[in-house]
Amino acid sequence: MTDGKSVEERRIALDQIAQEIRVCKACALHSARTRVVPGAGRPDADIMFIGEAPGYHEDQQGLPFVGASGKYLGELLAMIGLTRNDVFIANVVKCRPPGNRDPLPAEIDTCVETYLNRQIALIRPKIVATLGRFSMALFFPANARISKIHGQPRCADGRVYYPLFHPAAVLRNPNLRPAMETDFRRMLSLLEEMADTNGPASDEPPPRQLSLF
Ligand code: URA
Repeated sequence: MTDGKSVEERRIALDQIAQEIRVCKACALHSARTRVVPGAGRPDADIMFIGEAPGYHEDQQGLPFVGASGKYLGELLAMIGLTRNDVFIANVVKCRPPGNRDPLPAEIDTCVETYLNRQIALIRPKIVATLGRFSMALFFPANARISKIHGQPRCADGRVYYPLFHPAAVLRNPNLRPAMETDFRRMLSLLEEMADTNGPASDEPPPRQLSLF
């Protein structure tokens, strides 16, 4: 049972998943990677961020969000009083697509089923914050537009899914900065609402105070 695991047991289980990822050849992405990027952070984080795929710097270092997008993500976290060590940061796919192309549906399906879903089940975050459209598409309707639903929480599976713009999109379009900052700040209110209602990090119905998408 995942539910009964201590922080140390979760850390060990996450390390085991990372070890599996290091030798993974389940899709073509393995052949072009320098290093795998399993994800990093607190094994019992309240907030888990899910990006798209490693880029050049992540592929070199084996860590998520260490390039320009990562620097901005760090600034956003600092703005709400958090550091990378307070959260868990992962990606939809764990290997860099060649030339930073979009990950293919089959690559996404394989990686999510084999690794990401297990990471989420172990960490049991209160908030899964999606960064960009690829991770948003895992938890929101296929026709959802990020420009419409960013910052609107959706309760399901006993947790909150929270769609955010991808930091790289905000760096490309600074007009999105105020919305991104507002959305980030709102995560703290969501956590407070959840603390007040003892949920929803279980299979209980979501608290009524949370605005549902
Ligand atoms: N963009 C992503 O989606 N993930 C990373 O790890 C880095 C950049």
